[in-house]
Amino acid sequence: MQYKRVLLKLSGEALMGQRQYGIDPQRLKEYAKEIKQVVDKGVELAIVIGGGNIFRGVSGASNGMDRVQGDHMGMLATCINGLALQSALEDEGLYTRLQTAIEIKEIAEPFIKRRAIRHLEKGRVVIFGGGTGNPYFTTDTAAVLRAIEINADAILKGTRVDGIYTADPEKDETAIKFDSITFKDVIQKGLKVMDMTAFTLSEENKLPIIVFDMNKQGNLLKLVSGETVGTIVNH
Ligand code: GTP
Repeated sequence: MQYKRVLLKLSGEALMGQRQYGIDPQRLKEYAKEIKQVVDKGVELAIVIGGGNIFRGVSGASNGMDRVQGDHMGMLATCINGLALQSALEDEGLYTRLQTAIEIKEIAEPFIKRRAIRHLEKGRVVIFGGGTGNPYFTTDTAAVLRAIEINADAILKGTRVDGIYTADPEKDETAIKFDSITFKDVIQKGLKVMDMTAFTLSEENKLPIIVFDMNKQGNLLKLVSGETVGTIVNH
């Protein structure tokens, strides 16, 4: 395997499948199967999941809600998704632990870096809920932060597009995909990979970001095996 320890970032919206809101159990099951293939190969895998399928702090704020309040609701949404994912992964026979950045001890372990690493070493999938535990930070930033803390080899950003393009491929059909690109070029070309906080945190800590299509079966396994899937951003 090309990667020994990875952090997989999934968006909350991805869990909606064809729905407008909430969690699609079928999609959840598909993701769990993809994740199992990788864990069965001995790859240590941690997951950060967003909460946008339930609540987005930013859109709450644009509707007049207090931003901090909205972000707290978003953090709880990621915990709900984390629980759903944990259940789906355990259905597939995987061992998992859910750790949250905000304490909800009756439901999940608190985030403890050393403990998270120990779980990974024992082959457990560790799901990090609650984002960074702070308002004004995205789950992408939480994903990069956790990836650095657990010494992941890369952060795998599962999306519905299959990589980084010269322009938005859903709007411009002449857009061309990059197999790899440097952090510098992403900024120079004004491409959007993650929000700036997440992106620069990744750059400063030399953590490669791989953007790939999580909805294509087998992609995750191919990626960690070393095949060219999606786009890698590195130095
Ligand atoms: P090792 O001792 O390293 O094998 O890890 P472990 O996770 O099995 O240790 P522990 O005995 O502490 O945990 C047993 C179970 O309790 C696991 O399912 C944990 O996720 C869960 N657990 C541990 N701490 C907490 C907590 O603070 N809150 C909740 N809700 N569950 C916890």
